[in-house]
Amino acid sequence: MIKAVRGTRDLLPPDTALWNFVEATAREVFRAYNFHEIRTPIFEDTQLFSRAVGEETDVVSKEMYTWEDRGRAESDRGQSLTLRPENTAGVVRAYIEHKLWDRGLNKLYYMGPQFRRERPQKGRYRQFFQIGAEVIGPATAGSESPARDAEVLEMLATLLDRLGITGWTLELNSVGCANDRATYNDALRKALEPVAAKMCVDCRRRAVSNPLRVFDCKVPEDQPIIETLPRISQYLDEPCREHFAEVQALLTSVGVEFQLNDRLVRGLDYYTRTAFEFTHGALGAQNAILGGGRYDGLSEALGGPHAPGIGFAMGEDRLVMSLQTSADDAKAKPDVYIAPLGAGMNREAARLARELRRGSAIVELGDEIFRLKKSFEAATKLGARYILIVGENEVKADTFALKNLASGEQVQVPRHELAARIVEK
Ligand code: HAM
Repeated sequence: MIKAVRGTRDLLPPDTALWNFVEATAREVFRAYNFHEIRTPIFEDTQLFSRAVGEETDVVSKEMYTWEDRGRAESDRGQSLTLRPENTAGVVRAYIEHKLWDRGLNKLYYMGPQFRRERPQKGRYRQFFQIGAEVIGPATAGSESPARDAEVLEMLATLLDRLGITGWTLELNSVGCANDRATYNDALRKALEPVAAKMCVDCRRRAVSNPLRVFDCKVPEDQPIIETLPRISQYLDEPCREHFAEVQALLTSVGVEFQLNDRLVRGLDYYTRTAFEFTHGALGAQNAILGGGRYDGLSEALGGPHAPGIGFAMGEDRLVMSLQTSADDAKAKPDVYIAPLGAGMNREAARLARELRRGSAIVELGDEIFRLKKSFEAATKLGARYILIVGENEVKADTFALKNLASGEQVQVPRHELAARIVEK
């Protein structure tokens, strides 16, 4: 038997209703904050990710699905392509390619699959889904302002509340800018020099090439050493310090709670200044529902103009997991099961189903070959609220027997009143 590839999975009803609920709610919230949708390709030139996300990151060095194109045309052949491991790089590429700076500040959102060859476990997949957003534009359009950071974070708090997710924590840090990063990296290299030999292979390499990545280390034996290392918060220059203070002041003024975490460096290299994660206790080891931050130098790193930006991506798989326990409501069950009774009744039932669906009812349609008992069993199994019996007598009288499956109450309802009766909760 051919099975879904390891780390990928099928999403089946009724869970897909939860996914749709999450996506519809996200779209509504994005609309309220004036974000618009962007869709970028699922595969891109490999260099886009190595330049944007960084060669030294786990994502680029270990986890990308990369292949060499074997197109017929000379121009295709040999091009290295990669399934996108994240969507920020694609959005910034599109910003540059389509000169989106002409539009001033761009507030864009996306939803879609991403791919990372990680070790699969609960909440971690090789094909997973992200819902994300990016605010990017020329500095003159206000893209660098701490007000953008605060707006994005406040929008996220609103979205999680709207989804009914409680018990999340917003962890916040500033990872500084190019200026402070150089001094900090020197300090970090110096602090790592005498201890690196006692650390894991990855950390020994990172200690020289990209010391900030040491903070990504999950090896338990390395943690006491990492705890002693200097933190970026001690190295921020004055503008970065002020920017971060203003983000915090704005969050406080809109009533969004946060915790400062000066070990939070994020796993991708493009971040500058504000970096954040929302975590959720119920998720276990993979507890980050979403992560993001500023990337003021990313456009330039990809050959574009200076275009500060900030954004986030949330793991939709994890979001749905944290909802699964409490969101039975979102799994829309049929309002009514129509049971055609006897030969020729399928036609009448089909007409009625069409009318009721136009009246916004969720309708499941049975078949005239079923006996009434079988229709009742099917309706109960689906969790329908009502069963509607369509027999010859009912059709003649244009009045139908509508039975509430929970209470057992049965009433005769004239055709024109059916839809209203069924959709009223
Ligand atoms: P990230 O932290 O790599 O950031 O991923 C964001 C979220 O995607 C994570 O918090 C997690 O919920 C989810 N996620 C990541 N990997 C997996 C996986 N293997 N299985 C399930 N869920 C996963 C980014 O991707 C950045 N592009 C976010 C961003 C946007 N920063 C600025 N703008």
